[in-house]
Parts: sequence; C-alpha cells; structure tokens
Amino acid sequence: MSKILITSALPYINGVPHLGHMVGCLLPSDVYARFMRMSGHDVLYIAGTDEHGTTSEVGALKEGISVEEYCDKYYARHVKTYEDFELSFDCFGRTSSEENKEVTYHIFEKLDENGFIEERTIKQVYSVDDGRFLADRYITGTCPYCGYDKARGDQCENCTKVLDPTELINPRSTISGSGNLEVRETKHLFLNLPKIEKRLSEWVASKEPYWPDVAYSIAKKWLKEGLQERCITRDLKWGFPVNKPGYEDKVFYVWFDAPIGYIGITKQWADQKPDERNWKEWWLDAKDVRYVEFMGKDNVPFHAIFFPAMLLGTGENWTFVDYLKGMSYLTFEGGKFSKSEHRGIFADKAVEEFPADYWRYWLMSNAPEASDSSFTFDSFAGMVNKDLNGVLGNFVSRVLKMTASKFGKEVPAGGEMTPLEKELAVNLQEKVNNYLKYMENMEIRKAMNELRSIWVDGNNYISAAEPWTVIKEDRERAAAILRVCINLIRIFAILSAPIMPKISEIMFSRLGLSSADMPGLKGFNVCQELQFLQPGHGFEPGDPLFERITPERLEELKLKYGSQEHK
Ligand code: MF3
Ligand code: ZN
Repeated sequence: MSKILITSALPYINGVPHLGHMVGCLLPSDVYARFMRMSGHDVLYIAGTDEHGTTSEVGALKEGISVEEYCDKYYARHVKTYEDFELSFDCFGRTSSEENKEVTYHIFEKLDENGFIEERTIKQVYSVDDGRFLADRYITGTCPYCGYDKARGDQCENCTKVLDPTELINPRSTISGSGNLEVRETKHLFLNLPKIEKRLSEWVASKEPYWPDVAYSIAKKWLKEGLQERCITRDLKWGFPVNKPGYEDKVFYVWFDAPIGYIGITKQWADQKPDERNWKEWWLDAKDVRYVEFMGKDNVPFHAIFFPAMLLGTGENWTFVDYLKGMSYLTFEGGKFSKSEHRGIFADKAVEEFPADYWRYWLMSNAPEASDSSFTFDSFAGMVNKDLNGVLGNFVSRVLKMTASKFGKEVPAGGEMTPLEKELAVNLQEKVNNYLKYMENMEIRKAMNELRSIWVDGNNYISAAEPWTVIKEDRERAAAILRVCINLIRIFAILSAPIMPKISEIMFSRLGLSSADMPGLKGFNVCQELQFLQPGHGFEPGDPLFERITPERLEELKLKYGSQEHK
C-alpha cells in the first residue's frame, strides 16, 4: 500500500496552542508525514481548526466581535503558528467550511435514512445568570466516577470517562462560575449507538492486532460498558443548522461535525485543484488507503467509537482508521499549562525564543507516549546544549572547519576506507535500520534515541580516527577520514529531516546541496551514502548550527514563563 492518509486531531479554534497541544498530535503527525513522504509514499496530511460550539460563541462575546470574525482571526493565528513550527500539512482547513457542511449533511441524511437518528425530549442545563443553555463542556463539577473536581460536562479529563452534564456533582457554569442552573426540557436528535454496537464491536475486534494497546483498550472499555444514545444537536447559533424539518433552529453538536472535518478538509484541499485532486480517492470507496490518526488520549473514544459508528451507520464504504496514535499529556514544570495563570510556553512565543527545530527536537525526544512527560527549561536547555550543540552542531563545525583549513573548501581526495570505516558503516546501518523501523511504527522516543546514537557514533568515529594527529604523518589518510565525516554530515541531515527540517536544510546548504537533492529513505545504504560526496565537491563551513543556552538565559526563560520555583 502506498497511499497514506494522516490526520491530526483538529485543534479548537479558541486561543493559541501550547507545547502540550503541539506534542499531543500536531507535531508527531507532521514528523510521521514527513517521514512517510521521504519513504516514497503518497501522503495526504490533513488538519484544521475545530470551530463550532459554545467556546467560540463565548470567546467572540468576550472580544466583542462576531463569531465569524473571531474564527477568522484565530484561524489566521493557528496558520501562522503552524507555519512557524514547520508543520507540513497538505491542507489546513476549517470545520466551518462549506465543504464540511456538505459532507456533514450527507452523513446525517444517510444516518437518518438508515434509521440511526432518534428524536428525544431531553432535559438540558440552562444557566439563569448567563441567559443561555450551557454546552456540556461549559459545566464544571465533580466527576461521579473518580471524584476529580474539575470534570467537564462532556468528559472527565482525569479518568477519560464520557459524561452527561447532569451526572456532575455540584455543577456550575464555567462561563460565570454561577451555580444558578436550571434544567429545562427541549427536543433533540440522538445517534442510536446501541443499534450500531454489534457491527462496531466486530470492527473494533478486527483492529486488535493493529491498534496500539492504549487505543484498543480504551475502545474495548467503552464497548464493555455498553454504548448509549448520544445527542448530536445543540441549542446554539454557531454551527451547522440541522438539516431536518423541525430542527432548523438547532445546530449540530461540535463533536458531530468535527471528525467529519477530516473529510470536509480533504474536500477543501481537492476544491483548490479540482482537475488534479479527488477527495473520494481518499475517503469513499477508496482503494489502498492506509489511514493513520494522531490525537491526545482524551480524544480516543471519539475516534475509535463515535466517528467510526457514524461512518458505519451510513452504510457507505468510507475509509476507516487503520492506526490510532493516542498520546498522553505534557505538563509544564510539573504542573498544568495555563494561559490565565501565565504558566507554560505557548507555541507562538516558543518560536520567538528559539527556532522551531529546537522545540521539535525536545518535544519528540520527550514525547509523552507511554506516560505523561514534563517540560522543564532545565531539560530543554540541557538537550539543546548537549545533543544539538555539543554532539550534532559541534561535529558539523569541527569537520567542516578542519577540512577547510587543511585542504580547502572541497571534499578532499586521497586515501581509502579501512576496517575502521567498514565497522562504522556496519554499526550505523544497524542503527539506521532501527531508526527507520521505529519511525515507521511511530515509536517516537525509540526513534529519537537511535538518531541521537547515530550522531554520537559520528563523534566517536572522529575521536578514534584522530585526523588532526594523523595529518602530521599521513595526509591521504586524514583526507579519507574527513571525507567520511563530511558524508556523515549529509547522512545526519537526511535522517534528521523529518524531525528538524530547517536544520537539515541548513546542513544540506553547507554541503552545497538543496532540498531537491534530498534522497528517499527506502533501502538507505550507509556504506553507499558514506561515499556519496566525492572529492572536489564544494562546501561552506558557515556559523555554528545551534545557539548555546547560557545559565543566565535559562534563568530568564524560567522567570518569563512562570516556572513554579519562581512563583
Ligand atoms: N478539538 C478537539 C480537541 O482539541 C479535537 C477534535 S478532533 C476531531 O480535543 F476529530 F474532531 F476532529
Ligand atoms: Zn473522572
């Protein structure tokens, strides 16, 4: 199979993403998309803003602008931030698009036709002080299952249990904090999940060998507890008006049209070049598409149960997820990221402090895969100084400077491979194979360890070969060593490209190469690549690749971004 569809959970439009959002789905999906492209696959990488729901209405209200203006404003900020972070989406769209509306209406009609939509009169929470019905996530209270006191009405973040707001103990409005809530009756539409349950569990069971344990066990847990009918409409202004008579003044629930957004955004992408692109080739009766989704752990139930159930209910042949990468959480200096408490570093500020690749490197090296991980500036500075500056950057400048001063700014001629280089090639090949395998399997931290260890091997090689000593007696041998080292720089640049695209480009340009010269990763042969750049090929030593973070700068950063020890 060579067509790979990759999606990242669609970030809520409100606010600016912090490093936790970045590492939870956007960045790993980008690294994976880059890697799969380099591995020769036909990749379609899709994301966008999740725009509907109360959050946007409340946000717009606060800023005194219309919801449309509000979404336009923040959409532009998301786009800018992700560009700065080098995220390589084929399309970054919006769930509020006309395209998504069309697909949402279509899926709803099919579900209705097939008897999966039910009308129910329900009791809904109305906040007297706010003068509005409260969306589930705008009610805060204590989780009846685990006792977490900041559970949201739709889901408990702590135990991932999906909730009904009326289950919350001591509920209050998140908007005003008011506990003056009333329950009022209104008519809504429900998706009859129990009716799809059997087919859904068969489908989930068929995924056992392929899904990672985290995702599979969350899906299983849901099914074991038994599915309930789920309300898919809301009393809001902002959203897609429900296309069913009697419901025109209601809109679809944000979690109904958000996952459909993956399809809608693909349609947006196709609509940009209607002659060349076809969204159905990826989504409907599509052949040979492998579909990989990235998301935070709390999103797994929606992607493993709710969205597939919606698609199954249409009776049509949609593309279903083949692999779900569910990530745990990133904390900030041991606590939570909080915009209001000025704690944590947000993505737009992060790239003002350091180039995106520094963050990308740290975040991927510390990806919260099996369990949560914590961002600390100490760890960040440590990795930048040690791995990037000390190991990779130092190798590059040392090799290029030494070669330039002893032989000129060209790959030197003379000498040949000795057993030392053969041993290096064998060791590296094994590590490269591991790296490629881990990347392919999305075992991010393991892949990063291999990458780092590949760089270290380069340093160990030059320390053992000692070209600076050898040159005094054997110029040809020194030339051969430095030639291998220059080729190592190219190898490092290629392998680092999915993680640090800009740095990799800079390394390439030092070697007189451009991104068009970037080879594929398929069948990567270290021995061959070590001889790729031939004598006479020009290079430029250039400035150091990375900036060292001094202790003073480190203290400044901690103060500026509210690390706990300074509070
Ligand atoms: N906006 C949601 C969140 O940040 C994710 C939506 S993912 C999608 O938790 F499937 F709905 F697109
Ligand atoms: Zn809970």
